[in-house]
Amino acid sequence: MSGKGQTILVTGGAGYIGALTVLELLNVDFEVVVIDNLSNAYQASSQQKPECLLRVEELTKKHVAFHSVDITNKEELNSVFQKYKFDNVIHFAALKAVGESVAKPLDYYKVNVTGTILLLEVMREHGVYRMIYSSSATVYGLPDKLPLTEESRTGNCTNPYGKSKYMVEQILQDLCFSNKAWSITSLRYFNPVGAHASGNIGEDPNGVPNNLMPYIAQVAVGKREKLSVYGKDYDTPDGTGVRDYIHVTDLAVGHLQAIFHQKPSGFQIYNLGTGRGYSVLEVIEAFKAASGKDIPYEIVDRRPGDIATSYADASRANKELAWHASRNIDDMCKDTWRWQQKNPDGYKNSSSVICPGACSLDSKKRAV
Ligand code: NAD
Ligand code: WQD
Repeated sequence: MSGKGQTILVTGGAGYIGALTVLELLNVDFEVVVIDNLSNAYQASSQQKPECLLRVEELTKKHVAFHSVDITNKEELNSVFQKYKFDNVIHFAALKAVGESVAKPLDYYKVNVTGTILLLEVMREHGVYRMIYSSSATVYGLPDKLPLTEESRTGNCTNPYGKSKYMVEQILQDLCFSNKAWSITSLRYFNPVGAHASGNIGEDPNGVPNNLMPYIAQVAVGKREKLSVYGKDYDTPDGTGVRDYIHVTDLAVGHLQAIFHQKPSGFQIYNLGTGRGYSVLEVIEAFKAASGKDIPYEIVDRRPGDIATSYADASRANKELAWHASRNIDDMCKDTWRWQQKNPDGYKNSSSVICPGACSLDSKKRAV
């Protein structure tokens, strides 16, 4: 299917999942406009686009428009909507670190909840009524039954990040109920991992990674000494936590399918996961095989707030969006490892990585 003739606003499009989704959108000929305040994205200079978007342009040979906009600033949002006519909005922009959200709840509610409300207001003022929203399996909290379906109980979240995602889903549902003009799709991601197959676009965590896969990758590359495995006494086959890891490119494609199969009206929810869980020890083994590196680890106490097991029933997305996750845990580890090796410091100090030796693109010419 083609996106020709449609213009998509991507908020947070300079982030991990956003940039990979922009790439897939461009590949099927959507016009893409990204807004991002760069609070979690790297830009070599204010004269340039964020590094990940320069790489997206190099890989796709297509243009992506970028505007530095904070979604909590209504005037900035308005100015973008005045400039373009959008057919749809994919809303990634958010703060996402669970631990930080406990320390800074107001920041999280302001960006994730207030920022979303302001965006919806500006959309309505400009007659744009379609949105694809980045939700999370975190809205399920502690599962009472597995696999998790879209009908499973939600709202039992233990931290402000999770609560903010849950609150926004409630707001979106009420909004769609209030006016049939709205069509909003909430995609509940399970555990996104991996990188673009080129190894040029991936996750660039700030400081010590909170999540398993980027931490393992940094151990493998020698940046960190060993992994702490949080608990080996869970009620799981090997005692370590089990999650449904999903390749970020499969996830990105899920957004395209959500646009192509969007209903004319109402609020829809879809799980995006593979339907298969892997334990921490299984992920370590898969990463060892993919990288050929040893991954030293030690078992430590459980991390507060963690659950034993989470995996998706993605049959609704399979059926209604014609979407299936096609990449397995080996692909996820191999692509993460390629990205990690090519970009040991993430996007910083890395322009030579894409164009080793003589590069035809002068970075100073790759301006916004
Ligand atoms: P990310 O931090 O890489 O991307 C988010 C982007 O939003 C960043 O580029 C950041 O600079 C931008 N941003 C933050 N605050 C902003 C603001 N006020 N105005 C404009 N831009 C702002 O995160 P990601 O992993 O790509 O996550 C994208 C979305 O997916 C988020 O909504 C997140 O909650 C959701 N999600 C992520 C995961 C995950 O594990 N990565 C899982 C489930 C859901
Ligand atoms: C996976 C497994 C850990 C790190 C988090 C957020 C969730 C969502 C995705 C956005 C667990 C174990 C981890 C480490 C470990 N984000 N682990 N050592 O916790 O499932 O989900 O990211 O919506 O909201 O909570 O992902 O990658 O942190 O952990 O042993 O250094 O790895 O205990 O079992 P999680 P994760």
